[in-house]
Amino acid sequence: MNKIFVYCNLQSSEIKMLKKYFHVNIYNPDKKELSKNDFYKKASGYNGILLQGSEIDKKFLHFNSKNLKAISNVAVGYDNIDIKEATKNKIAVLNTPNVLNNAVADLTIGLLIAIARRICEGDKYIRDGKWKKSSWNLMWGEELYNENLGIVGLGNIGKEVVKRANSFGFNTYYFNRKKLSKATEKKLKVNYLNLDDLLKKSKFIILMLPLNEDSFHLFNKETFQIMRKDSFIINLARGKIINEKDLVEALLKKNIAGAALDVFEFEPKVNKKLLKLNNVVLMPHSGSATKHTRQSMIKLACYNLKNYLINGKTDNLVNKEII
Ligand code: GLV
Repeated sequence: MNKIFVYCNLQSSEIKMLKKYFHVNIYNPDKKELSKNDFYKKASGYNGILLQGSEIDKKFLHFNSKNLKAISNVAVGYDNIDIKEATKNKIAVLNTPNVLNNAVADLTIGLLIAIARRICEGDKYIRDGKWKKSSWNLMWGEELYNENLGIVGLGNIGKEVVKRANSFGFNTYYFNRKKLSKATEKKLKVNYLNLDDLLKKSKFIILMLPLNEDSFHLFNKETFQIMRKDSFIINLARGKIINEKDLVEALLKKNIAGAALDVFEFEPKVNKKLLKLNNVVLMPHSGSATKHTRQSMIKLACYNLKNYLINGKTDNLVNKEII
């Protein structure tokens, strides 16, 4: 029987399922997170690992290359794992796409409206006891109808965002490494622009692209200077796509109008200067955090591992080159 190490908070139905097929060792990081060293000690020597975004680097993969056959990540993104090294050692990396599309798209629109209509600022204003009289000029925000929306990275989640955006009457543009077919563009009502043109044109810019060598710090001093001064950036992708120091500077210098952030460059650490700014809305990496979606992701990650190790199925296999 294969031995697996589970490093996340599992529902009892999934524990039961996994125990039918594997020797299972479960450690719940919600109780106490392991240091990188302790994680490496505890997680070594298994045939499979199930985890939620913890870092798996070259050294760990190399050290475990004899026994380890699969890593099942409870996330759609897999930038926490050294894919090149996993592939070199024929270790499968499995992820959980699609089940989270609706939840992430919902929060994307939620954060966009929150920053445009100053929802968090208004909430704080009332709680701080500052609302003493009605005032015509109070909390004026930005309208969405007929504004230009730019989506950087139009994949499956981005397409769900577009469906929602269309109902608000946005003019939607996108930039992708791969251009969509004319038919898909027409169906989604989106137009392609190169990145510079998208930055110049958009009032709202949503980041929906994976983190990799090309997207690391794609948003930096130069890009913030190209963006409109009245524009907002909304990031639910990965924190490291934005150079956070440059973002703070752009916000302070009013090179852009605001930011709504669900992810951070050094999360869970957040740049202290961001906390002081009114024109910033913050969420603790919660794009997929609904009961339904998080349970679906866990279930899918467990079945990915079982299907790969027991039945040799390769759905949701990130590094298909290994087969
Ligand atoms: C969340 O960030 C994910 O990649 O699923």
